[in-house]
Amino acid sequence: MTSRRPSVFVTRHLPGPALERLAVATDVEVWPEELPPPPEKLAGKAQQSDALLTLLTDRIDAALLHIAPNLLVVSNMATGFDNIDVPAATERGVLVTRTPGVLSETTADFAFALLFAVARRVVEGNRYVRAGRWKTWGPETLLGQDVHGATLGIVGLGGIGRVVARRADGFGMRVLYTGPSPKPDAESELGVEFRALAELLRASDFVSLHAPLTPETKHLINARTLRLMKPTAMLVNTGRGPLVDQAALYEALRSGVIAAAALDVTDPEPMSPDDPLLTLPNFIVTPHIASASVATRSRMALLAAENLLTALRGEIPAHAVDPQVGDAWRQRLRERFGAQS
Ligand code: GLV
Repeated sequence: MTSRRPSVFVTRHLPGPALERLAVATDVEVWPEELPPPPEKLAGKAQQSDALLTLLTDRIDAALLHIAPNLLVVSNMATGFDNIDVPAATERGVLVTRTPGVLSETTADFAFALLFAVARRVVEGNRYVRAGRWKTWGPETLLGQDVHGATLGIVGLGGIGRVVARRADGFGMRVLYTGPSPKPDAESELGVEFRALAELLRASDFVSLHAPLTPETKHLINARTLRLMKPTAMLVNTGRGPLVDQAALYEALRSGVIAAAALDVTDPEPMSPDDPLLTLPNFIVTPHIASASVATRSRMALLAAENLLTALRGEIPAHAVDPQVGDAWRQRLRERFGAQS
């Protein structure tokens, strides 16, 4: 049916069967290094490829799309897609896909790992023992805060936020949520209560961020909004680094405006080892690993591969970000590879 096999550039080696699956129907090239392809390499590969399988570390901006007019599909192996200029892709007839759902449970597990780590001072305790400071059981040693019975504020009740709410119920927490609008279905299903951001911040013992990064959500947590939080409150971010103004967070943690914070995502990534936040005992950070279980990363990679292959067959996958590319996009596919299903 096709005059040639589609060419696909994958920007890093992937776990699980995804690459084998791609190789059955396409000519696949995989960037072999540990670090992502530098922008000029990525741009060169984009020029030579029909499709890209990208990660959140790859910036697909208007300039790259401009010099790669043959590109048809960008399949992003992430639920977030703020690394891609979607309007520019749509304008150029490039279909963008993502991998929501398959990582929600694993990411929610990790949000709780961080929440417990700060609440119960797990990292400080580990450091304390390693430093030889454990001399006896102390009635006032490393006292933390209870998670059970506390109020959790979820910022962004999407796929991951909802799963976090379910876990919170198991710990007997009261759950508040905020977002662009109330979600009555979630309220009846999960027993969560909608609040405006300011009210949620005032009332919560723990605040967990699960909003997508958009111009509206950038620096949602800033000097002003941090001051609304309780001095005993703790912040967890497994969403995107720029949701938080980190300079303001440093000041808030240093001066006791809030009690502690745990970030799995930072701005920029990677966080510099010289970042002032790393000097604070009430701050912990992990290197963007909330979805990093063997099973989930394999599922994400496979879903990204399947999205890409579905698209190259001329179908709009369920996880398309810009399904409106529609007929013009299908026409380009047809011209390149012949009649599609
Ligand atoms: C990870 O951060 C993702 O968006 O999947």
